[in-house]
Amino acid sequence: MKITRSAIFLIGIALLIIAAAPLQAEGKKQDKTGILLVTFGTTFPEARAAFKNIKESASRAFPDTPVKWAYTSEMIRKKMADKGKQADSPDRALEKMDSEGFSRVAVQSLHTIAGHEFHDLVKTVRKFENNADSIKEISISGPLLDGPESMEKAAHAIRKSVPAERKPGEAVVLLGHGTHHPSNSAYAALMWRLQTEDENMFIGTVEGYPGPETIIEQLGQNKVSSAWLMPFMSVAGDHARNDMAGDGKDSWKTLLSEAGLASRPVMKGFAEYEPFVDIWIDQLKEAIENKIKVKD
Ligand code: CO
Repeated sequence: MKITRSAIFLIGIALLIIAAAPLQAEGKKQDKTGILLVTFGTTFPEARAAFKNIKESASRAFPDTPVKWAYTSEMIRKKMADKGKQADSPDRALEKMDSEGFSRVAVQSLHTIAGHEFHDLVKTVRKFENNADSIKEISISGPLLDGPESMEKAAHAIRKSVPAERKPGEAVVLLGHGTHHPSNSAYAALMWRLQTEDENMFIGTVEGYPGPETIIEQLGQNKVSSAWLMPFMSVAGDHARNDMAGDGKDSWKTLLSEAGLASRPVMKGFAEYEPFVDIWIDQLKEAIENKIKVKD
């Protein structure tokens, strides 16, 4: 049988087409979506239950989407690395996701307010918007208090997370981190909103306004004698254990006690309460489905 040059050419073309087919399928697989959860972090292993809870909820809601972590606090990352635990900065985590071929990344901030940490995160995300190899679409959602609508959602989640054992007349004092950044005003705005329905709901801060003197004065005005103390942070870490519920002379528990008020601390970060986790999951759903863009 005589094989002509053109027959060899045709067979060659056919082989090329067969060989290219799996490559095309591979190309489709490259359409890979990932979630990046970003938190300040915590050094307390017990407090990481909060992170486990949110990660598990995200994996349940998006079973085919890998969930990664990043920690904004350099100090926490260093402490974790000393213990042999992997802890990436948002920049490093996104670099890794880029090199692992993720084409879409939904970044979810677990911060409470849009302070320095959040704005730094936005800057990091922006770097990947147009300069990444694989990441074609990147979005960032959160923090918890980033506008009137989210304020209402947070108020709703707080009302649902108040301890069931709370008796009438007992106050609930939520303790936020606080900052000198203008976004600190979100705490007072939320407190005002909560008090329109429940005059004994308060939000104080560790490092911003309002501090303990202001809140204790208001508790006195409301003739409250007992208060529940709850961290208003995603995890009950160092600030919750020491500044809120510690025995030190400056802790909220001590200062309330000196003012004649009994207090009951609740050692749970809001990432351990389903109504808060639901807010983040809803935001991620929106990010993944509607492609929320990077915000300013
Ligand atoms: Co702090």
